[in-house]
Amino acid sequence: MTTALITGASSGLGAEFARQLAAQGHDLVLVARHRERLEGAARELGTRYGVEIEVLAADLTDPLGLGTVVVRAKDPSRPVGILVNNAGHGLLHDFHSNPLTDEVHHLRLHVEAAMSLCHAVLPGMLARGEGQIINVASVAAFLPRGTYSAAKAWLVAFSRWANVHYRRSGVAVTALCPGFTRTEFHERMGMETRWYPGWTWLRAERVVRDGLRDSAAGKAVSVPSVLYKAVVLASRVLPDALLGGPARRPRR
Ligand SMILES: NC(=O)c1ccc[n+]([C@@H]2O[C@H](COP(=O)([O-])OP(=O)(O)OC[C@H]3O[C@@H](n4cnc5c(N)ncnc54)[C@H](OP(=O)(O)O)[C@@H]3O)[C@@H](O)[C@H]2O)c1
Repeated sequence: MTTALITGASSGLGAEFARQLAAQGHDLVLVARHRERLEGAARELGTRYGVEIEVLAADLTDPLGLGTVVVRAKDPSRPVGILVNNAGHGLLHDFHSNPLTDEVHHLRLHVEAAMSLCHAVLPGMLARGEGQIINVASVAAFLPRGTYSAAKAWLVAFSRWANVHYRRSGVAVTALCPGFTRTEFHERMGMETRWYPGWTWLRAERVVRDGLRDSAAGKAVSVPSVLYKAVVLASRVLPDALLGGPARRPRR
């Protein structure tokens, strides 16, 4: 068993990664901004599964916060064997109407933080000849849906390259690409979700299980469910005007 560092571990998919990895017997480093939520999860999972859990409260869009997590990720005395780059958020409005600072923070969180942490853990993983990196992207990476799609497409392209490049040295790099999943994601961005039928929604438990299975199998890209595999296939043939879908609506 090894240590897994999970970003965005205070809710949704990150909290579920923490549960499933603790259940497998891995020690954890939990990262997010809300310390109390992380400490609550650490107490619960530590008691239930008997694993060691560190809490790092950090804002990954802040250079100081990211720097703290990078230092921990590089620490050779407590090696990280599994990295889950999961922290993320969405932007409700179109690119031109968002403040540029919001767009910059969004890009930093999805791309700069994930890239920095990959860069921090890879030398140790390669030296040990084993490791798993899961970059939580999205099915949106295959669709033309604003800067969210663009950032997630970076994670998919990077993971596809890195998996070919590092797999032969024992390190699997996997982009996990869920579709709609029931977490706090849409509520936090203030998006109306009433119009999306129940059958389009995945459960976090299933998304994480599929992602861990595909990472263990060394896959570069993991798309949970037949529905969203079909969406990825459709994205190769349908015109962008159709794939873009309707504009997001604010929650009422
Ligand atoms: N839910 C979906 O439908 C869906 C679909 C495809 C992909 N995804 C992706 O899945 C990932 C997880 O999202 P989720 O659905 O689980 O949403 P969520 O429940 O809102 O969780 C987001 C997590 O990211 C953390 N976070 C946000 N901003 C942060 C920051 N600046 N620094 C550090 N941590 C930060 C949050 O914790 P704090 O607030 O405590 O910092 C929280 O733990 C995201 O990358 C998202 O893009 C989600």
